[in-house]
Amino acid sequence: MDEFIRVEQLHKRYDLSEPWLARLIYRRPKRFLDAVDDVSFSIERGKTFALVGESGSGKSTIARMTVGLLTPTRGRVLIDGHDLHDEHLSQVEHRRIRQRLQMVFQSPYASLNPRWRVGSILAEPIRVFRLVENRDAEQARVRELLEQVGLSASDAKRYPHEFSGGQRQRISIARALASKPDFIVCDEPTSALDVSVQAQVLNLLKQLQRDLGLTYLFITHNLAVVRVMAHRIGVLKSGKLVEEQDTEKLIESPQSDYTQMLIRSAPRIHRAAS
Ligand SMILES: Nc1ncnc2c1ncn2[C@@H]1O[C@H](COP(=O)(O)OP(=O)(O)OP(=O)(O)O)[C@@H](O)[C@H]1O
Ligand SMILES: [Mg+2]
Repeated sequence: MDEFIRVEQLHKRYDLSEPWLARLIYRRPKRFLDAVDDVSFSIERGKTFALVGESGSGKSTIARMTVGLLTPTRGRVLIDGHDLHDEHLSQVEHRRIRQRLQMVFQSPYASLNPRWRVGSILAEPIRVFRLVENRDAEQARVRELLEQVGLSASDAKRYPHEFSGGQRQRISIARALASKPDFIVCDEPTSALDVSVQAQVLNLLKQLQRDLGLTYLFITHNLAVVRVMAHRIGVLKSGKLVEEQDTEKLIESPQSDYTQMLIRSAPRIHRAAS
């Protein structure tokens, strides 16, 4: 197996304690939450691994740790064999790894600066990672990115608010692609979109995966979406991975009670599988 990312016994503990003075006065103990508890999985290069599970089960926490936005309390994230959270990495090495990892969020507003034209939004990562020699090459790359996600070169002059929700999500995808990543974490990327637009964006993500050989970690509540997108699925409950299996197998014959419950409560999937 050609493994791109391996997550080993990942653990994240959040400190939910009140400020120390309040604790002192009211004699309250410290409080912690183990939001991610001993989670391990790996993703093959060019494939999609989906994480499903109820709200608060730790999906986004795992997502943020796999791209280096959050530091695990324990455990490791290996990207092509390199430990992403290794403090001994030089700044250059760290930057090189980070360039390969990107994230697409549910709300495009999280990643699109409303005061910038789309051209500048897409050019920023190209500049930060010094991916081109001069301004002409930068503009050419921006045009290429826009076309790759089904928009047109002239859209570079417009502002994010001038686009529809689906188009804005295409811009976020173009921005994620700008640094030439190998791995993209999609955290509920289509949950805020209409069903028809959702299908178009999912198709775009699949096509980009085929064309660019991208590896995805895909997070969603929607089991119908998982079935279309994922090669393999991990089911998360209260921070723990309760089951992991190839997509069809998991949906056809779920092993844990929790997975069975998730599938029963997704009527369309259940019918399609029976
Ligand atoms: N920065 C934080 N500080 C403290 N607790 C946090 C923090 N971020 C998340 N949590 C808690 O950790 C748990 C897991 O949160 P997380 O956002 O990973 O869940 P999720 O599975 O992505 O949920 P959703 O489906 O609602 O997006 C939740 O109980 C949440 O309240
Ligand atoms: Mg989340």
